[in-house]
Amino acid sequence: MRLEIDNLVVSLRSDHMLGRGRTVHAVKGVSFAIGTGEAVGLVGESGSGKSTIARAIMGVVPPTTGEIRFLQEGRASGLPKQRRAKLAQMIFQDAAASLNPRLKVGSALNQIIAVHHPRLSARERETMGLGLLRRVALDEMIFDRFPRELSGGQAQRVAIARALIPEPFLLVCDEPVSALDVSVQAGILRLLDDLRRNSGMALLMISHDLAAVRALCDRIVVLKEGEIVEAGPANAICSSPTHAYTKALLDAVAQI
Ligand SMILES: Nc1ncnc2c1ncn2[C@@H]1O[C@H](COP(=O)(O)OP(=O)(O)O)[C@@H](O)[C@H]1O
Ligand SMILES: [Mg+2]
Repeated sequence: MRLEIDNLVVSLRSDHMLGRGRTVHAVKGVSFAIGTGEAVGLVGESGSGKSTIARAIMGVVPPTTGEIRFLQEGRASGLPKQRRAKLAQMIFQDAAASLNPRLKVGSALNQIIAVHHPRLSARERETMGLGLLRRVALDEMIFDRFPRELSGGQAQRVAIARALIPEPFLLVCDEPVSALDVSVQAGILRLLDDLRRNSGMALLMISHDLAAVRALCDRIVVLKEGEIVEAGPANAICSSPTHAYTKALLDAVAQI
């Protein structure tokens, strides 16, 4: 399996109060690919178009021009929802907000397990849900908790567990640790790295902080104002960045 982003352009109608209706050129001709089990870092300062690319991959925003293809599946835009769920899942900076506040963790996992594994009995679904909590190194007690009762790190682990249910080819991680205490960031990054190594799930690691994601990534794509300024093996990009902008990202000068 392989994701190919080919000359992606995304222009959005501004919904900002000032300049409403103006066209924002969020992504201006971006191309890169991700193969099975690969980890690619997509880094750039705030507003550079990272989340827009993520939303386009997830099919939430249509490409204005260009194409997003999942090889062997063809154009992403024509695929049924359930098939799409197996291609790519996404986790967000604000994990707690991505969970339904009215559902306990166990019920939320159960609902999605029922969609993707309809032949399982209630007992088997529960076993699978508990198994998912173990895979993300959470205690079984979390099963009976509401999202508001979770720490930021626990909520992100639940979001990751939920994303694993369809066994996607790719997990898109949009600033997955930016909102977390520094002390728990490394644990989440290590979990994502372990999942990739053990299950072969590809990762798209999106961050404004190049230093934070470099250790996980095979390749890095550096984005500025909707365009790629530099791309290549993570080691090369980080040890000898050719672009001043990349150096600034490495120094974490760029802020959220
Ligand atoms: N829904 C939207 N409507 C209009 N403009 C948007 C919308 N979402 C993002 N943008 C604009 O697109 C550009 C890229 O945003 P985004 O993809 O969120 O960047 P990043 O995730 O790198 O911070 C920014 O100029 C942003 O203001
Ligand atoms: Mg963003």
